[in-house]
Amino acid sequence: MAENRTFTMIKPDAVEKGHIGAILEQITASGFRIVAMKLTQMTRRDAEKFYEVHSERPFYGELVEFMSRGPIVAAILEKENAVEDFRTLIGATNPEDAAEGTIRKKYAASVGENAVHGSDSDENAQIEGAFHFAGREMF
Ligand code: RTP
Ligand code: MG
Repeated sequence: MAENRTFTMIKPDAVEKGHIGAILEQITASGFRIVAMKLTQMTRRDAEKFYEVHSERPFYGELVEFMSRGPIVAAILEKENAVEDFRTLIGATNPEDAAEGTIRKKYAASVGENAVHGSDSDENAQIEGAFHFAGREMF
């Protein structure tokens, strides 16, 4: 994946609350182009693998349980400076610390159930996008 792409998930909490449309509207209104997108559900094993980097952290079990409990929207997004700009758009991990108007400030309930994921580097954007999408599903 090129350097102008990032990977996101609308997490189970935000899907359950019916925020898919509002979140996608904010993403596209902020200048991101949707390159790939689907509604899907991760198995426990998928979530364990996706978040393997956090496997030693105390919240890992909770995170895996949460991320596999219901459907998510997975998407690849394109924009100049995508990774950094998308992290700015979603706000801090803990919604209490997130800036006004950010997606997490508006839709996240807690540091654990925080509505959206955003890749933290170009390298991870590539890995995470490839985890969810085949080449023919990317446009
Ligand atoms: P993400 O990877 O989902 O975009 O979130 P992030 O970079 O802002 O935060 P990260 O440190 O990568 O943590 C991944 C996800 O783990 C959950 N978490 N829970 N209970 C806790 O203290 C805690 N800390 C992190 C969140 O769902 C977080 O987004
Ligand atoms: Mg992260």
